[in-house]
Amino acid sequence: MGRSSKDKRDIYYRLAKEEGWRARSAFKLLQLDEEFQLFEGVRRAVDLCAAPGSWSQVLSRKLKGGAGEGPEAVKIVAVDLQAMAPLPGVVQIQGDITKVSTAQEIIQHFEGQPADLVVCDGAPDVTGLHDIDEYIQAQLLLAALNITTHVLNKGGTFVAKIFRGKDVTLLYSQLRIFFPNVTCAKPRSSRNSSIEAFVVCRGYCPPEGYVPNMSNPLLDHCYDVDFNQLEGPNRVIVPFLACGDLSAYDSDRTYPLQLAPGKEYSYVPPTQPPIRPPYQEACFLKKNNLLAKEPGPPPLEEAGPAPSYGSVLEPQGCPPETAVENVLASLSMSP
Ligand SMILES: C[S@@+](CC[C@H](N)C(=O)[O-])C[C@H]1O[C@@H](n2cnc3c(N)ncnc32)[C@H](O)[C@@H]1O
Repeated sequence: MGRSSKDKRDIYYRLAKEEGWRARSAFKLLQLDEEFQLFEGVRRAVDLCAAPGSWSQVLSRKLKGGAGEGPEAVKIVAVDLQAMAPLPGVVQIQGDITKVSTAQEIIQHFEGQPADLVVCDGAPDVTGLHDIDEYIQAQLLLAALNITTHVLNKGGTFVAKIFRGKDVTLLYSQLRIFFPNVTCAKPRSSRNSSIEAFVVCRGYCPPEGYVPNMSNPLLDHCYDVDFNQLEGPNRVIVPFLACGDLSAYDSDRTYPLQLAPGKEYSYVPPTQPPIRPPYQEACFLKKNNLLAKEPGPPPLEEAGPAPSYGSVLEPQGCPPETAVENVLASLSMSP
């Protein structure tokens, strides 16, 4: 895909760059807020799985008003495994949301006070194998719920990305243990073709005597029942809501570029490319044809010893590891 073809196909991607958001996901949180007024009265907010930072930008603009200088009492903490470029008014933690130490660090930044709002747009690297992707996403959501039970104030709100896969009812039932009010919402900027949606969980109220811990996200439910077969009061069904103004752009449509008469299209670079994303090394190797390839069968007349897997790198005059090290050194990375 060319640099500009996504601009031409995806209106929210284009708008994000024009409006200075780091990712098109910003619109998802904005549209969820239009529906649920998520930010009302919020003084301490946590953005889990925040990189490259568009949700943190939304939090900063909405709670602190633009430059991030806003009311001193408002505090925003963003957490991600990956490094994120700094954002005014947002404290960043490079950490794992499945670790209790991350919860402790968040609380430290709030000086011992609990948060009013926790949002999580977390997504693992998808494999393309739907069952596995859904399972991993569910685990990440439960990890987010777990860490939330350590940091959220009673009555607080939790918003998280969910995949509406076949065991989604199990997740709803977990969420309902902690929140009396759970809604599944699909913002207009989230493509219909995607099973992604967001749970908006309000009125945090853990069960009597519940002690937060990171080891048992599934509480007393087990995973060996087909929850979608359950009926009556055993089946947890939460309301589903499409949100975002009806006049908002439809993310599944292609809109023409809105160019002034006589104006040529010019590419707008992303507001803030990710810092050292995990795929950076692979992209570099691929672009420079340095990826090791499994050798095909040698021509019959030349059949000699089979070349090694690293043979693509060897013509450079060094063993594969050295070639990779050179490449990484040029990117200032260590293997
Ligand atoms: C879709 S991106 C989030 C986009 C972000 N909301 C924004 O608007 O810019 C998903 C993020 O989840 C992060 N992530 C996945 N697993 C994580 C974990 N265990 N702990 C912390 N972050 C994680 C990834 O590093 C990735 O940056």
